[in-house]
Amino acid sequence: MELKERVALVTGAGKRVGRAIALALAARGAALAIHYRSSRSEAESAVQQIIAAGGRAAAFAANLERVADIEQMVAQILERFGRIDVLVNSASVFYRKPLEELTEADWDINLDTNLKAPFFLAKAAGLAMRRQGAGKIVNIGDWAGIRPYNNYLPYTVSKSGLIGLTRALAKALAPEVQVNCVALGPVMPPEDYDAEEIERLRRATLTRTLGTPEDVARAVLYLCEGADFTTGATLMVDGGRLLN
Ligand SMILES: NC(=O)c1ccc[n+]([C@@H]2O[C@H](COP(=O)([O-])OP(=O)(O)OC[C@H]3O[C@@H](n4cnc5c(N)ncnc54)[C@H](OP(=O)(O)O)[C@@H]3O)[C@@H](O)[C@H]2O)c1
Repeated sequence: MELKERVALVTGAGKRVGRAIALALAARGAALAIHYRSSRSEAESAVQQIIAAGGRAAAFAANLERVADIEQMVAQILERFGRIDVLVNSASVFYRKPLEELTEADWDINLDTNLKAPFFLAKAAGLAMRRQGAGKIVNIGDWAGIRPYNNYLPYTVSKSGLIGLTRALAKALAPEVQVNCVALGPVMPPEDYDAEEIERLRRATLTRTLGTPEDVARAVLYLCEGADFTTGATLMVDGGRLLN
């Protein structure tokens, strides 16, 4: 699918990996809906960066824990841009907590943000894509959705679910919409990780490197532009971490 003149929504696009994906889609000619929750100034600066480069973009706020917010945001995007062709579900919560300390609230925030929200975003945006006759949805997963991390139980379950959701949506939205997942290894460690932790992440990959947000963006571009015959798939962008 050619991205020029298309409209793409990227969640969590104010900073980090989501921002890199949004800028890469914009560089290919898509108009960008930059979603954020609390990173308003970062989202506005991404919009300005795209406009300065000659593109089209606008920022949209939503708390993805609330389905009503999700539906309202997709309606606002359709009103503003008239269509939606690409959805990238990148926003997520990620924090460490041992089993003994996990509460119902931990379970809910992880599953609501990382799995329920991608479903309701894909439902609202995917039905619009189907009406238009074509579309691409890319879910940003984690190798830990296949082999769980220690001490991140609800997160890893949400990312396992995202792989299942990708396959189920690929069937439900066929033949118009292709739905795929990109399962990441370490590309941008949390900001509070120290040098020793980052070095451990690096050595645990087969490539002995961290990935970059641009590695992720290239995989998303491939799934949107060059993979019309691929749907329901999970593409590993993990430096071989899963195999190590
Ligand atoms: N970074 C990595 O190395 C890595 C590794 C494996 C997998 N991944 C996956 O790649 C994706 C991007 O990673 P990242 O590190 O860039 O993510 P991140 O910085 O942890 O989070 C991205 C954004 O998610 C948004 N978000 C969180 N809860 C939200 C809510 N309730 N409503 C709306 N937005 C919410 C936040 O937006 P605001 O700041 O606007 O509030 C945040 O900036 C995630 O799906 C992650 O699981 C990343």
